[in-house]
Amino acid sequence: MTMTKTILRALAGEKLPTPPIWMMRQAGRYLPEYRATRAQAGDFLSLCYNSELAAEVTLQPIRRYGFDAAILFADILLLPQALGVDLWFETGEGPRMTTVTTPAELKALKPIDQIDEVLNPVYETVKILSRELPKETTLIGFAGAPWTVATYMIAGRGTPDQGPAHALKSADRATFSALIDLLTDATIEYLSKQVVAGAEVIKIFDSWAGSLQGQDFYDFAVEPARRITTALKDRHPHLPVIAFPRGAGERYEGLHEKIGADCIALDDGVSPEWAAAHVQTGGCVQGNLASHHMVTGGDDLIRETRKVVDTLSNGPHIFNLGHGITPDASPDNVQLMIDTVRGA
Ligand code: CP3
Repeated sequence: MTMTKTILRALAGEKLPTPPIWMMRQAGRYLPEYRATRAQAGDFLSLCYNSELAAEVTLQPIRRYGFDAAILFADILLLPQALGVDLWFETGEGPRMTTVTTPAELKALKPIDQIDEVLNPVYETVKILSRELPKETTLIGFAGAPWTVATYMIAGRGTPDQGPAHALKSADRATFSALIDLLTDATIEYLSKQVVAGAEVIKIFDSWAGSLQGQDFYDFAVEPARRITTALKDRHPHLPVIAFPRGAGERYEGLHEKIGADCIALDDGVSPEWAAAHVQTGGCVQGNLASHHMVTGGDDLIRETRKVVDTLSNGPHIFNLGHGITPDASPDNVQLMIDTVRGA
């Protein structure tokens, strides 16, 4: 059987004449149609749990741009919510949640076999999408990595330096490690259900991996990602996994093997030249145009896009940004990037 989906071919290690392309946060506030559907849903979390509307916003960037992959519309913080923490979004500020920092609070979380009571609408979104996506478009499911999710649970919000999570790790390593282990186990169940519902690829977002120093990076970013990847592949033997330990820097080298992932997603903190020599040698890479080009556009966008494409053209590559597209980005710049990648 030949695979027609370009993303799956790249993930299987094939070097393609034109890299497949999708974009982190491709369904988001830079798109007027997203803002309209979000208003219809009421707020961001209601949108995440409304399967029909979540599927609709997932499809919007596919219709507008013809990306090669669609990423399930949801959020990494739905899993802690399913474990029983209160979650809300402060307008203009970001997520807020009740904290988990003590053994008693950890013990008060719901058992993993109850998370589906909250997460069923997410699996339903996946089912709708696997029916409605064009046949050439790959459906990506995702979750946050345990460390990144834990940084929000421990602080109760986003933090610039993940200080509260580092502090708990020093002060009470047993509780911190137990939280990471619980999130690892819960993430395996959550992602496995997404695959059963129709997700064809899984991506693990470790947005704050870069702040883990020394052995902590291996214990709390690499090891949980390896456990999740191994468990998923045991249950779903041909499932491709993309790992995104953002900010890993030189530690990106060797991660395909250490995690067992089919693809390592790169942020724009590493150059494409360095990534071609040190990371792509281990397998498929995804990335890594700086997302500010979606705001600034012009000749710089064209030049830098070509540089990423050309430099990573000697091996398997999925074109993407180095991080999510921002709300102030221009939809026209996205089209310019796609045209540049596809050589139009
Ligand atoms: O990429 C996609 O389009 C799929 C959907 C997706 C969202 N969040 C939707 C979203 C994915 C994969 C995420 C991942 C996510 N969520 C991460 C990891 C990736 C990263 O960006 O580093 C993190 C850290 C979160 C937690 C989160 N969700 C924060 C900190 C915020 C607020 C910041 C912001 O941009 O406002 C969100 C909200 C969020 N998640 C939005 C979207 C489209 C914006 C919400 C809105 O519509 O108001």
